[in-house]
Amino acid sequence: MTEVNVSIENVILGLDSVSKRFVVRKGWIKNRFNAIHDISFALQKNKPEILAIVGESGSGKSTIAKILLELETPTTGRVIHDGRYQTKKSRRERKNRLLFRSDVQPIFQDPFGTFNPLKPIDGYLRETAASFRVGEPTDEVMDSALHKVGLSLSEIQGRYPGELSGGQLQRISIARALIVQPSVLVADEPHSMVDASLTVSIVNLFKSLKETMGISVVYITHNLATAQYISDNIIVLHRGETVECGPIEDVLTQPRHPYTQDLIASIPKPDPSQKWDDKVVDDQMEETEYTMKGCKYANRCSKVMERCRRQDPDKRTVDRVQVKCFLYD
Ligand SMILES: Nc1ncnc2c1ncn2[C@@H]1O[C@H](COP(=O)(O)OP(=O)(O)OP(=O)(O)O)[C@@H](O)[C@H]1O
Ligand SMILES: [Mg+2]
Repeated sequence: MTEVNVSIENVILGLDSVSKRFVVRKGWIKNRFNAIHDISFALQKNKPEILAIVGESGSGKSTIAKILLELETPTTGRVIHDGRYQTKKSRRERKNRLLFRSDVQPIFQDPFGTFNPLKPIDGYLRETAASFRVGEPTDEVMDSALHKVGLSLSEIQGRYPGELSGGQLQRISIARALIVQPSVLVADEPHSMVDASLTVSIVNLFKSLKETMGISVVYITHNLATAQYISDNIIVLHRGETVECGPIEDVLTQPRHPYTQDLIASIPKPDPSQKWDDKVVDDQMEETEYTMKGCKYANRCSKVMERCRRQDPDKRTVDRVQVKCFLYD
């Protein structure tokens, strides 16, 4: 579900019109820009889903992940968790935030960076579980979490991160998240450091965690092929804004926004796992697009109209999809 149009009590994790403004200094000049703007979506309780968030480099994907994980606070808008709006103020809320962190678990990009190279893996797993106040996990709990990712405690006991492969480490970091029994995983490009065959096994794992354990996943990726394979819904981000969102099969088989169309067209066909070509976007273009008036894709859009440069389009509903483009008036 990609809009907050269900009642808040039914939401396990969501964003309600969230924007994040950063200040960037260039010499004496301070520039403010919205890294993300007016982002809304809601994952529902008892209705596990995989929500893909895609967009080229610098589109605000990690900013969304950090806000969901409470590593950043929104400038405007609110995070919804477990049926309630999260606020920063009261002590009680802060206590809930601790609980929140165990219910919404991160899976990071770099499995090698996740672990302390000087500590045996099983010790690290025990420590992180204990830090979420679930107590020291028993061997059974550890073994069961490891089995869910295709490993076992006996396989990893006493071993150091350097002795394991990237794919194994990424599975262990998913097991670490599972020990504290989360409702949602927030996975920010979880397979960007592993090869193509491991990519498939990691995304298959997300699919099976959803199906067997009812865990929802916010799956942030550059890889449209794997997004299509495992996700239920998709948000396409451009310069911090949702340009198109809805059920994944609708968006990827009949993309409406020219940006989504260009993303799909730029995947080289013989190797569907390939990233689209990011190199056409340089820093100058990023800055121009983030700060320009009207539609931020106007300079690159093949279907640009005169009004696109003057006015910022609202989202329109076309069948089951929402698209932020004047073409659908
Ligand atoms: N702490 C910060 N201060 C200033 N600008 C930031 C900060 N964090 C991110 N940004 C900027 O916000 C924009 C979005 O960044 P973000 O990391 O969310 O993009 P992304 O989609 O995750 O990119 P990538 O695919 O390269 O990981 C970028 O222009 C980035 O430079
Ligand atoms: Mg990122």
